[in-house]
Amino acid sequence: MLHQTGKAMIIGKPFLTSRQIQNKVKELANRISDDYEGKDIIAIGILKGAFMFFSDLVKLIQVPMDIDFIVASSYVKTQSAGEMEIHADLREDIRGRHVLLIEDIVDTGITLNFINKLLLERSPASLKICTLLDKRSCRQIDTDLDYVGYQIPDHYVVGYGLDYENKFRNLPYIAVFKEENIK
Ligand code: PRP
Repeated sequence: MLHQTGKAMIIGKPFLTSRQIQNKVKELANRISDDYEGKDIIAIGILKGAFMFFSDLVKLIQVPMDIDFIVASSYVKTQSAGEMEIHADLREDIRGRHVLLIEDIVDTGITLNFINKLLLERSPASLKICTLLDKRSCRQIDTDLDYVGYQIPDHYVVGYGLDYENKFRNLPYIAVFKEENIK
């Protein structure tokens, strides 16, 4: 159980442990390294949620890469708002580059669909998508996913980059969050 002082937020036992996540990250990195052998890529993280997955994953990918980030948000509390906001765009030009887009979770698919379209308009040589978590049952807009860590049921999950009101991102594991956990 994790208690964050001040608000007495309580999170239960891990849904995915740190060890499970790290094993999955290795597996994904190996597949990506094989698929991109001989190529130079640009890895793009969608912030804030992807920061931890992104940094663990890129450390293990064995092809030359540049990195960049796009800062976007769509959620309001535990509901997906359906509205997208880009807070900070890429700094790099992706024209003619092999882009690997890295996301922590695909839920409704609105965020990914929006960013995917935005980046495709910039004429990359290729664009593949890697997500740690896929909540397929919640999908409103479908986008093909090239690398998926875990398919998960419709739980609101926090930790390993994922938040509730910007809290819990620093947990090294993923846990299910319930609003009644806030007293
Ligand atoms: C979360 C998550 C994904 C997105 C997935 O980001 O990190 O980017 O929602 O949801 P969707 O498939 O329904 O669009 P959020 O908008 O909460 O911003 P954050 O990354 O700063 O947490």
